[in-house]
Amino acid sequence: MGSAASQHRPDTAAAVVAMVGAGQLAQMTQQAAIALGVQLRVLAQLPDEPAVLAGADHRLGSPDDLQALLALADGADVVTFDHEQIDPGLLVELERAGVNLQPAPAAKLLAQDKLHARRELERMGFPVPPFTHAHSVEQVQAFAQQHGWPLVAKTPRGGYDGRGVFELADPEQAAAELATHPDGLLLEPLLEIRRELAAMVARSTTGEQVAYPVVESVQRDAMCREILAPAPIDAELAQQAAQMALQIAQRAGITGVVALELFDTPAGLLVNELALRPHNSGHYTIEGCVTSQFEQHLRGVLGWPLGATELTAPAVVMVNVVGAADGSDPLRRIPQALAVAGAHVHLYAKTARPGRKLGHVTVCGADLQGARATALRAARELGSEP
Ligand SMILES: Nc1ncnc2c1ncn2[C@@H]1O[C@H](COP(=O)(O)OP(=O)(O)OP(=O)(O)O)[C@@H](O)[C@H]1O
Ligand SMILES: [Mg+2]
Repeated sequence: MGSAASQHRPDTAAAVVAMVGAGQLAQMTQQAAIALGVQLRVLAQLPDEPAVLAGADHRLGSPDDLQALLALADGADVVTFDHEQIDPGLLVELERAGVNLQPAPAAKLLAQDKLHARRELERMGFPVPPFTHAHSVEQVQAFAQQHGWPLVAKTPRGGYDGRGVFELADPEQAAAELATHPDGLLLEPLLEIRRELAAMVARSTTGEQVAYPVVESVQRDAMCREILAPAPIDAELAQQAAQMALQIAQRAGITGVVALELFDTPAGLLVNELALRPHNSGHYTIEGCVTSQFEQHLRGVLGWPLGATELTAPAVVMVNVVGAADGSDPLRRIPQALAVAGAHVHLYAKTARPGRKLGHVTVCGADLQGARATALRAARELGSEP
């Protein structure tokens, strides 16, 4: 265990977890790894990425480069991910080379390709929005005839934080978008969404599974801005969402944590998408649950016993710190945010840019309304646009 290039003790018995990606999810996984004595080794493109700055061992390279991925995997007990932006074909090659990938490539594809996920989940009998894969304006028009304009179009691969999701107002716009998307577009109706929910579960390589409380995800401009835990919904709906996530995790053979994004619509719960990694909807678990999603992911991919998922307070709210239009850096305003009693501030050491997720604030409280007001106040002190 451990490689010659490791900055850690060479004689250690510590488990080595390699993670493709070195952003804020890897940074927070590093915090959990320290407590468990796990050596986290990340694949970073640049030496100033958040997880590298947080002290994780690292290899420099691109996730598109098989040699870089093999070097990352060399001597590691398991390889896992902090994002989906990696060619599924490379993962299959790594698997063939004997690398222990958790989750496995076939499961990971559910998070990498929205079209594949829609088809698979539908095949397994889970409720998904009406969808089609369109390559021509005629196909778009036929779908619009059934569901009405505007439509929602998505690039099947490569999107995140709403990038790759846009509305199509009419056939002209459809023609323009199809011209720049030669692989076609995933189309859906513009759904009437009452609430967006996220159901997180964890599954260990041993098959053990646990579910976190179902949360509400508040989106603005197709980006997650707030998480309310537990979701203010009736127990039956929450139970239904959690059961769906548990069943999907089991049937797809997912390992580590998985976040299931759901739409609560007049037609019932619909599955939007999955993330097979720690997720923005689970940041609140650091202070808000007995076991954080980051620790849980490490336990799951290593085949270790999973931790308890109960809330540590009656209500927990997380608010993202999003870069302000003027480009100001929240790092300069930490003392002001810390003056807000009860605010747990997390910043990701990322360069401030308008609209970029730069950190988050979590507040544990007696009720959602109070916790939310406090979290929003602290986020505003950090310059976050509401
Ligand atoms: N068919 C739809 N009808 C209405 N709103 C939608 C629809 N699909 C997506 N949205 C909105 O856009 C958001 C982003 O969509 P989606 O989750 O598919 O994209 P993403 O960029 O992968 O997301 P993420 O922010 O999770 O990375 C959703 O959370 C929802 O608010
Ligand atoms: Mg999403």
